[in-house]
Amino acid sequence: MWLKRRPVFVIIFNMKIEVVNVTHIFYRGTPLERIALRDIDLTIEEGECLLVAGNTGSGKSTLLQIIAGLIEPTGGQVLYDGRQRKGYEVRKHIGIAFQYPEDQFFAETVFDEIAFAVRNFYPDEDPVPFVKRAMEFVGLNFDEFKDRVPFFLSGGEKRRVAIASVIVHEPDVLMLDEPLVGLDREGKGDLLRVIEKWKKLKRTVVIISHDIETVIKHVDRVVFLENGRKIFDGSREDFLREIDVHYLTTRLRTMRRLLLSGEDPFSMGDEELIDRVYRI
Ligand SMILES: Nc1ncnc2c1ncn2[C@@H]1O[C@H](COP(=O)(O)OP(=O)(O)OP(=O)(O)O)[C@@H](O)[C@H]1O
Ligand SMILES: [Mg+2]
Repeated sequence: MWLKRRPVFVIIFNMKIEVVNVTHIFYRGTPLERIALRDIDLTIEEGECLLVAGNTGSGKSTLLQIIAGLIEPTGGQVLYDGRQRKGYEVRKHIGIAFQYPEDQFFAETVFDEIAFAVRNFYPDEDPVPFVKRAMEFVGLNFDEFKDRVPFFLSGGEKRRVAIASVIVHEPDVLMLDEPLVGLDREGKGDLLRVIEKWKKLKRTVVIISHDIETVIKHVDRVVFLENGRKIFDGSREDFLREIDVHYLTTRLRTMRRLLLSGEDPFSMGDEELIDRVYRI
């Protein structure tokens, strides 16, 4: 299985992440000042699968980039395994795929794009087996795609290359910012299977998505942001029960009603859910 062999020099630390009282202000003290996050406390246990949701501009992408060590917060701190760590140290352990895959592409071939992290973090290793495993993991054929230009791939293929390039060096945590956007039904299904595969490795995954009704079936916990504040943090069941109903789509409201009547809406397929809409 993929990830069976780890380079022996990797120190695997317990990847508990604690966001402590984090505030982030862009362009502080200028007319462009923008408060993106306010007093966020959040603990992510190792192996958890978390959905971060909230309206546009609520601070989701900023929060993930802070956790991934890409942005230094203007207030508060993030602890990894109980202590602060340097950005480069964190980046080795956390793979983050950005909201727009193109934002992270820079190489001229899919191979070079995906191999970058291996060459960067493990310069003495041969990148080929790493790249092959990562491509296989996301369902991309190595021979067919290795020489393609990342920019000229379809939306779904780009998304897979982006994910392969952040899991290739075998991080402990995977973070996906809006991974379902622009994918058709089949593409979404493929991507959700990649997430399920990752979960089987008992590693942490954090997903940002507006498509709560699709993603909630695959996560344990939901964090909901509004205007830079965390307004909900709890199990997916409590999310459906407790979050203000105006945040919920019709389908999520149906799921809520099913849950309140003692059923398990998370295990129901789309067809069954729609069927139930007419029965309750
Ligand atoms: N690089 C930046 N410079 C200045 N302001 C920024 C920057 N990035 C984000 N912001 C601002 O910070 C706030 C939070 O943005 P963020 O991108 O984290 O939201 P989001 O929840 O990911 O939104 P979306 O759902 O639209 O992706 C917004 O008001 C945004 O305008
Ligand atoms: Mg965003």
